[in-house]
Amino acid sequence: MLKWLIRVVLGLLGAAAIAVVSSYVYFFVVLPRDLPPPDLQIELTPARVERGTYLATAVFGCAYCHSDRDWSLFGAPPKPGTIGQGGELFDESAGLSGMIVSPNITPYALGDWTDGEIYRAIVSGLHKDGYAFFPIMPFDVYLYLEPEDAYALVAWVRSLEPVVNDTPPRNPSLFMQWIGNVRAIPAAPWEIDKSDPVQRGQYLAVIAGCRFCHTPADERQQALPGMRLAGGLGMPANGVKVYSANITPDRATGIGGWSERDFINRFHNFRGATVAADAVGFQTQHAWTEYAQMTAADLADIYAYLMAQPAVSNSVDPLLGMQP
Ligand code: HEC
Ligand code: HEC
Repeated sequence: MLKWLIRVVLGLLGAAAIAVVSSYVYFFVVLPRDLPPPDLQIELTPARVERGTYLATAVFGCAYCHSDRDWSLFGAPPKPGTIGQGGELFDESAGLSGMIVSPNITPYALGDWTDGEIYRAIVSGLHKDGYAFFPIMPFDVYLYLEPEDAYALVAWVRSLEPVVNDTPPRNPSLFMQWIGNVRAIPAAPWEIDKSDPVQRGQYLAVIAGCRFCHTPADERQQALPGMRLAGGLGMPANGVKVYSANITPDRATGIGGWSERDFINRFHNFRGATVAADAVGFQTQHAWTEYAQMTAADLADIYAYLMAQPAVSNSVDPLLGMQP
């Protein structure tokens, strides 16, 4: 799943290849050679585990990628009892050179990692053994996490039920190994003005990766200029292509006609509901069931952020894509 995301990532890497000299300088000269894990003892307080569980399952999609998903339900939520067990395959069929399976992150697999090593994996993309992850794991946005949120995510990982599930070892191609030799990316937590709903919403929307799915791209997976959040990116969902929606404030083709209440309800309608994909008539990659658990306050902040973005006219049909 999320194969479209790999294409986006590969597209970004393609752009990086063009700018190979500058990226070489950046990766091999500017970035640190080595980033030791911080010495952390993260206490599993109930508040921290609760916050981490909320972020990982309702907002940031960690549970989505690191579990087995039920494709018979709309939005393919994780199957109960598989949370954190890994197993999602990313390979050639996804346009990837090599093969990577999302790893088991329950204590069954990470029992001997320190808190600092798990923290560094999330915000800097480094394995305990020191190699850099392929950026399917979105550490390029997790580096913005506020420290307390990153600690809460470590607490979530630690608090998961151990699931006995051995995922195959990663088998990156030489090209991917080269990418994996890039140096560590240090955490760069955002300083958010907490009194500003737009900034609070931006923090959630950027780290949740709304724009990765909701910005259309050309066949080389370069984001189309001037089309941020305007929808129309095609992505496979259970064998069928689905196209993301325009979530800019354009009134005619986006969500500009939606009130804050409409926006919150659109998500909360999926609370406690198990909706069969067949009943909807199509399958999607938008995590309706998980996002439904977001608080009204957080959804209101995301709404404020989206409404503050430029309106783009772009009519999208979820099954047919961009309409002339
Ligand atoms: C789009 C899919 C995706 C999302 C979303 C995602 N991960 Fe990952 N994660 C991966 C993949 C794939 C790897 C392995 C990458 C590699 O080996 O190059 C990984 C690696 C990890 C590891 C290291 C485990 C190991 O054995 O290498 C941890 C810990 C982890 N993720 C935690 C998280 C947390 C916490 C979140 C949410 C904040 C998250 N992940 C979101 C796909 C994802
Ligand atoms: C994994 C890809 C993906 C991610 C991540 C994603 N979406 Fe979506 N979204 C879609 C797709 C595909 C659709 C269209 C099909 C559907 O309605 O499910 C959609 C539909 C929507 C709709 C319905 C719009 C309408 O006109 O009915 C809204 C609102 C929305 N997304 C907002 C968001 C926000 C906010 C985020 C970030 C928190 C987000 N999406 C993250 C793929 C994604």
